[in-house]
Amino acid sequence: MKGLLLAGGYGTRLRPLTFTGNKHTLPIANKPMILYGLEALCRAGVKEVGVVVGPLREGVVELIGDGSKFGVEVTYIEQPEPKGLAHAVLVSERFLGNEPFVMHLGDNLLKEGVKPFIDLFENGGFDCVVGAAKVREPSRYGIIDFDSSGRVKKLVEKPKEYISDWALIGTYVFNEKIFDAVKQLKPSWRGELEITEAIQHLLDHGCRVHVRFVQGWWKDTGRPEDLLEANQLILHDIETRIEGVVEGDATVSGSVVIGRNSIVKSGSTIRGPAVIGES
Ligand code: G1P
Repeated sequence: MKGLLLAGGYGTRLRPLTFTGNKHTLPIANKPMILYGLEALCRAGVKEVGVVVGPLREGVVELIGDGSKFGVEVTYIEQPEPKGLAHAVLVSERFLGNEPFVMHLGDNLLKEGVKPFIDLFENGGFDCVVGAAKVREPSRYGIIDFDSSGRVKKLVEKPKEYISDWALIGTYVFNEKIFDAVKQLKPSWRGELEITEAIQHLLDHGCRVHVRFVQGWWKDTGRPEDLLEANQLILHDIETRIEGVVEGDATVSGSVVIGRNSIVKSGSTIRGPAVIGES
């Protein structure tokens, strides 16, 4: 199973933070957000990861390099313009070949990681497994409509009229059938090739699409307030790890990570949850 980690796009909703840098390198609890996705792929046993980058690629390449320090082999795939998630799949076809792959959006954080999705795909004989979570503003997401027996009826990207509260969360497992689907797409009203429409195409052509309802939290960091919330969610789950130095007369309480090379000087008080330095 290969991995596809998406880090293209301009992050317009996070301006001015993203005027000069890649959104996916913004820190959440002192760690560039894309690393949460990369680490989730590594933990799931993925060894080859394609990182899709757009014009603002610099920070991402400096951070991840060839992937060796994370235990994966990374290939960078150019997406010259942010033309949608299905477009990212299209430009990655050569890298992905005929192998199944897990696609994860580099700006989405998922407590349970991606392994449960891969396991379901591998054990269930599906053509596609997607994650879903209940949301408060369905018009901001790709939304899944179910029939009365719980089967997926249709998927709509950012529906103008209410159909359900179940959103696609940005973690998808596909086999090679997705390539035919993305090749049939026309740009949507926002000028993008929508992965939601490609999944609808799979459904319409009798492919087996399975929805997994996420367990634990999921956060899409599209807007500034999402960054703050993501920070809280991560901090809430941290376990104390002191890799730096806490001087004799300092007080550290609650869950606190003190990164390598960080020094908590005598007289300071740190009340967790907190991350100081590298996390
Ligand atoms: C994208 C997808 C959407 C999905 C969302 C999850 O939205 O198009 O279907 O629900 O990610 O974060 P976008 O971030 O492009 O608005």
